[in-house]
Amino acid sequence: MFEPQDPNRIQLNSKGQLRHFLTTEGLSRELLTEILDTADSFIDMGAKQIKKVPLLRGRTVVNLFFEASTRTLSTFELAAKRLSADVLNLNISTSSTSKGETLKDTLMTLEAMHSDMFVVRHADSGAAHFIASRVTPDVAVINAGDGRHAHPTQAMLDMLTIRRHKGDFAPLKVAIVGDILHSRVARSQIHALRTLGASEVRVIGPKTLLPRHIEAMGVKVFTDMRSGLQDVDVIMMLRLQKERMNSALLPSESEFYRLYGMTTEKLAYARPDAVVMHPGPINRGVEIESAIADGPRSLILDQVTNGIAVRMAVMSMAMSGQTVERQHPHEQAQ
Ligand code: NCD
Repeated sequence: MFEPQDPNRIQLNSKGQLRHFLTTEGLSRELLTEILDTADSFIDMGAKQIKKVPLLRGRTVVNLFFEASTRTLSTFELAAKRLSADVLNLNISTSSTSKGETLKDTLMTLEAMHSDMFVVRHADSGAAHFIASRVTPDVAVINAGDGRHAHPTQAMLDMLTIRRHKGDFAPLKVAIVGDILHSRVARSQIHALRTLGASEVRVIGPKTLLPRHIEAMGVKVFTDMRSGLQDVDVIMMLRLQKERMNSALLPSESEFYRLYGMTTEKLAYARPDAVVMHPGPINRGVEIESAIADGPRSLILDQVTNGIAVRMAVMSMAMSGQTVERQHPHEQAQ
């Protein structure tokens, strides 16, 4: 519905700092590393008894969720609260839009409440970009997942989880497995992994769930787990996005599990120290075996914990990028 274009013209300020966070595509290695370093500094804080810092004190963050979500919404909410912001969660799908209010009117109403940041989840690709290009200049927009397009905070929490377990990206071979076709997570992960310098990024899935021309993103394509997982250090499973499949792309869930489900048997194809990740919500016995999901090589719960730190990092960075822009508007790049 909305065409995302030129993300960095809008998501960076005139000094090249983040002022919105819409996509990992096109961001520099330095900026992605700054997000990870900032998030790292928040991680220890989560373990302390007093979990708050005053970086967003007096600011209002609105979580605008046009599509249902549990872990993304709750970790954004916790992140904003740990930055001392006031937080409002709006489930738009069941409120104003069903009463016929347009998106523009919803935004104007929220701006009139002096909101400083919108965290947006929407079923249409480009929605967060569309909102960022229309809000008043002092509002920061964070993309919490738009259609099949991007889910940049998910990708960055995955990068943080990888870095904390494996250190450097340079030697790593990473495989992304499953429904690549419908996955905003996969797209954001591929951009981030390539920019951070992973030695090889692979996608593995049935032909019907692989986008055409995916090789153009700089990945190696496999339709078979045995060859695809060979020598891999990190395995990133995806959820089957059944709500986005409008035709029969799969023979059956059990067939998918037999061929692509992460089982003890298939994990043995990868390196002995390979780790397994999944953005959640996981479907046990469809994408992943319980013994793997709950086992010692699974990083699934670390991903959730790290998500709070990454969301704190991008929220505080975008807010300070906005402030810098407001203080030096005459330097604004065209
Ligand atoms: C992802 C999403 O919504 O895109 N989940 C999440 O953010 N927790 C992945 C998914 O739903 O499959």
